[in-house]
Amino acid sequence: MSLYGKSILLVIGGGIAAYKSLDLIRRLRERGASVRCVMTQAAQEFITPLSVGALSADHVFTELFDRQDEHDVGHIRLSREADLIVVAPATADLMAKLAAGLANDLASTVLLASDKPVLMAPAMNPRMWAHPATKRNLATLKADGVAFVGPNTGEMAESGEAGEGRMAESLEIVAAIESRLSGAAKPLAGRKIIVTSGPTHEAIDPVRYIANRSSGKQGHAIAAALAELGAEVHLVSGPVSIPDPHGVSVIHVESARQMHEAVERLLPADAGIFVAAVADWRPQAETDQKMKKGVASPALKLVENPDILAGVGHHEKRPELVIGFAAETQDVLENARKKLARKGADIIVANDVSHDSGMGTGGVMGGQRNRVHIVTAEGVEDWPEMAKEEVAKRLAQLVADRVGTKR
Ligand SMILES: Cc1cc2nc3c(=O)[nH]c(=O)nc-3n(C[C@H](O)[C@H](O)[C@H](O)COP(=O)(O)O)c2cc1C
Repeated sequence: MSLYGKSILLVIGGGIAAYKSLDLIRRLRERGASVRCVMTQAAQEFITPLSVGALSADHVFTELFDRQDEHDVGHIRLSREADLIVVAPATADLMAKLAAGLANDLASTVLLASDKPVLMAPAMNPRMWAHPATKRNLATLKADGVAFVGPNTGEMAESGEAGEGRMAESLEIVAAIESRLSGAAKPLAGRKIIVTSGPTHEAIDPVRYIANRSSGKQGHAIAAALAELGAEVHLVSGPVSIPDPHGVSVIHVESARQMHEAVERLLPADAGIFVAAVADWRPQAETDQKMKKGVASPALKLVENPDILAGVGHHEKRPELVIGFAAETQDVLENARKKLARKGADIIVANDVSHDSGMGTGGVMGGQRNRVHIVTAEGVEDWPEMAKEEVAKRLAQLVADRVGTKR
């Protein structure tokens, strides 16, 4: 793909991989992009503004308080003129600054003062990359809509060091830039998709409720991955403690009945993906006052909640594609197959949420990883264990294959 007419703002951070950003500038310009560069103070310890300026054929920006550039508020203008901001190398420090919203030099101020899409190519020592602080910042930035390419696994520039943390190669970064700037990578453009996520809370009295261990991580990641492919995503979320995904319209609900109503209101849609762990039952009567101790122990009489997936699967406004998640603790595939027909779904994504599912403490629910089986009328496809974001990406691609772009 040509990048002709596209304008890239390249923020170069202070890591050894800064030398690779010189090649990146060259590759981008070969493809017709114009490249403006901002260098951090630390970046200038590794490569010079002179070589960056020579390759980009433009002034290189290094100072926040530059009288020449700031007479027209240069730090705001720099990002406004760009189609995409690329941070390469993205140091642990730059990731931390943007995740925290710091703006104490030109690079961080430009990033914070911009509403343009951001692509980061992290590069750092494997221990820095594996540090919980960096992991936290990565999760925050992803939730804020920042895209990432790499890092790769391999030898570090420092002798004797190897592991995950090598900056992606120039051509990989170029490919990531092209895919973000090309409309062709949006196979779900024009498609409306409903996703449910998280648990539901079923009130017993004004302060108590019945809930389950769902964190919403898988459903939210799926909503984000679908939006990434261009879909108009409506996420109906139960009570969760994770942020709303970027680029998605979110309706927050508490109970299964509220979730059901929200989904009904959102129909018609092209696809529905029902990931939420909806409570099967609710207390028959919610008391207005807090139940008091000291009297006879109350008996909780439960009644069944509406079955949201089956309701949509058999609805007169049924979406073209209906996918349900089946969390099971035994006979996972057997139960998923039965659900397929009963719920009127095209696909059941089955996962074993038992504690001995091999997924570490707490199992799948609340955890970071998932191992799922894609059950359709044609058969079962077993996916290997992977991060929930990866499951989400693969599932979004599967949705795109089934209900591709509206013409
Ligand atoms: C030789 C050397 C190599 C470094 N390489 C990296 C690196 O690859 N990634 C990184 O995140 N920090 C690296 N650092 C640390 C950063 O330079 C330091 O955190 C700096 O404050 C980053 O500033 P910046 O984010 O404004 O560019 C390195 C430091 C030195 C001295």
